[in-house]
Amino acid sequence: MPSLNEVAQKLVLPGMGILAADESEGTIAKRFAVIGLPVTLETRRDYREMLFRSREAMSKYISGVILTEETLLQNAADGTPFVTLLAETDVLPGIKVDRGAFAMPGTQGEKITEGLDGLRARLAHYREVGAKFAKWRGVIAVSDIAPSRNGIRANAHVLARYAALCQEAGIVPVVEPEVLADGEPGDHSLERCAEVTSETLETVFKELRLAGVDLGGMLLKPNMVLPGIRSAERPSVGEVARRTLEVLKAQVPATVPGIAFLSGGQSDEAATAHLSAMNRMGPLPWALTFSYGRALQTAALLAWAGEAANVPAAQAAFAHRARMNSLAATGEWRVELDRAA
Ligand code: 13P
Repeated sequence: MPSLNEVAQKLVLPGMGILAADESEGTIAKRFAVIGLPVTLETRRDYREMLFRSREAMSKYISGVILTEETLLQNAADGTPFVTLLAETDVLPGIKVDRGAFAMPGTQGEKITEGLDGLRARLAHYREVGAKFAKWRGVIAVSDIAPSRNGIRANAHVLARYAALCQEAGIVPVVEPEVLADGEPGDHSLERCAEVTSETLETVFKELRLAGVDLGGMLLKPNMVLPGIRSAERPSVGEVARRTLEVLKAQVPATVPGIAFLSGGQSDEAATAHLSAMNRMGPLPWALTFSYGRALQTAALLAWAGEAANVPAAQAAFAHRARMNSLAATGEWRVELDRAA
């Protein structure tokens, strides 16, 4: 059986990255609303099946997929379990194990992620049905008064408890502390994001060490250092890449095998350009790749629009985005390659 470190390494092999397809029912409903599609068990299945059957994307550029519990246990329309389908292209199944972020008492609009109760038993079950890695997202909102010290510490603490439970179960934890760019009011500066991200990561690694987590058997899924989406600041690609790397180099130990970013509401092209610029600034102590949801899926979702006849076009759109991000993961993406398509 491969070690946690071997699984983590495989997820971040050069030019490979993770597809985040673990939208909760509420989030997938928001995505489907854009194409006017009702949300049912079948539409969710058909959409995800379209992605997973995109042979080019899945075999060449995607190392792992983060699934919901529903998808992990679900079959494709022809009865093939999704886990079997993923194995055909050597893609590792992952599972989102948190139960969402809820209002945190004693704070002004901050959130704490729930889902630790019963997690040991759930992880044992997920492992049995094939999950090799897991994800837990902590949400750090930025405003004039947030995040509080308490909000950062509480989220870092539950991330560490989740990561320790994963490793005990033989599952690689993907540790995701997301400093929100698209929260409320969302007008903070790039420098404020750098400060908050830095303090958050410092606290997360303190808690991970206290919890005895093997840093060689996990991945970090952070935000990039960006101004809030309603800020007037327009930093260059190089500036975002430089500040993000400064924060990561100061806070993320080199024993962590890889960092796989979330896209966090960036445009498809921006998420790719930033990743590529960072990889061009190497050599880096860890692999640096993508674990995108929206920035990998949006073009495919729009091309699909809920119609079986559009599946080939949607799969081509997905393969294109996956290829662009694969190039970015080795610093070889160029804007002409994207625009030509
Ligand atoms: P986005 O890339 O759309 O931010 O989603 C990534 C993710 O997994 C959030 O938890």
